[in-house]
Amino acid sequence: MKVTVVGAGAVGATCADNIARKELCTELVLLDIKEGVAEGKAQDMMQTAQLLGFDTKIVGTTNDYSKTAGSDVVVITSGLPRKPGMTREELIGVNAGIVKSVCENILKYSPDTIIIVISNPMDTMTYLALQSTGLPKNKIIGMGGTLDSSRFRYQLSQHLGCSPSDLNAVVIGGHGDTTMIPLIRLATWNSVPVTQFLSEDQQKQIVADTMVGGATLTKLIGTSAWYAPGAAGALLVESILRDEKKLQTCCVFLDGEYGQKDICLGVPVVVGRNGWEKIVDFDLNEQEKQEFNKSADAVRSMNEVLKTL
Ligand code: 2OP
Repeated sequence: MKVTVVGAGAVGATCADNIARKELCTELVLLDIKEGVAEGKAQDMMQTAQLLGFDTKIVGTTNDYSKTAGSDVVVITSGLPRKPGMTREELIGVNAGIVKSVCENILKYSPDTIIIVISNPMDTMTYLALQSTGLPKNKIIGMGGTLDSSRFRYQLSQHLGCSPSDLNAVVIGGHGDTTMIPLIRLATWNSVPVTQFLSEDQQKQIVADTMVGGATLTKLIGTSAWYAPGAAGALLVESILRDEKKLQTCCVFLDGEYGQKDICLGVPVVVGRNGWEKIVDFDLNEQEKQEFNKSADAVRSMNEVLKTL
């Protein structure tokens, strides 16, 4: 198995590090446009192989896409990260051009690959990846909901005083501060609804803190986060390469599901060796449906911007 991570910044390098530690593939290529950065980080990671006990071979390259040939999965992290006060949507002008050119280069050497998109604004970049590669829709997966759902579980765990692993909770919709929808009504603590243990105010707080999870970290760190985004990308690589059929929330192309068409948006999907294999209907109530449609409107207007670039 072979995986490529494009972009050796903090998110890309963390994603690659997680992939190597889990030995998800035999060969891992890290590619960046900045001379020497991917080679350096790949070597640094390889020098942890004996310490951490993994056998994945990590190769770094400065923009040589021939090294990525035959990748089973490609993770795209390229583009600018957010600065404090910035929305993910403000990155579209620069990142759209970068993501489009990455997709074209990847496709030349790995025409059957599965692509995981992390670059922001993630929903629109996923739509762009689908358009610019022409790959079957099941092979294009945006990572956002997997990350946001993990942040949601973290926020819930803080209020419940429990382990995030004991929680089942998902965030659907867009991967934007105002477009994501943490489904607190359906969240459970080992099958018991979390709403039984939380006041209305606590629930509102958890939802609000989840939605600005990324922005809060950007403010604290001075740039956007990388540990959880990188780990979320690696988790999806794992679900694909191990054909796990795990239910993850991912940004995928909707063709009537959840009442939306011609858009990539976060919904629960089964992820396996064929990419996202099935969309699962969570039977939203009226309010959640309205929120989902509002989220779709916002993402659709961002997709429209692509036509003007
Ligand atoms: C985040 O939310 C990078 O969009 C990513 O941290």
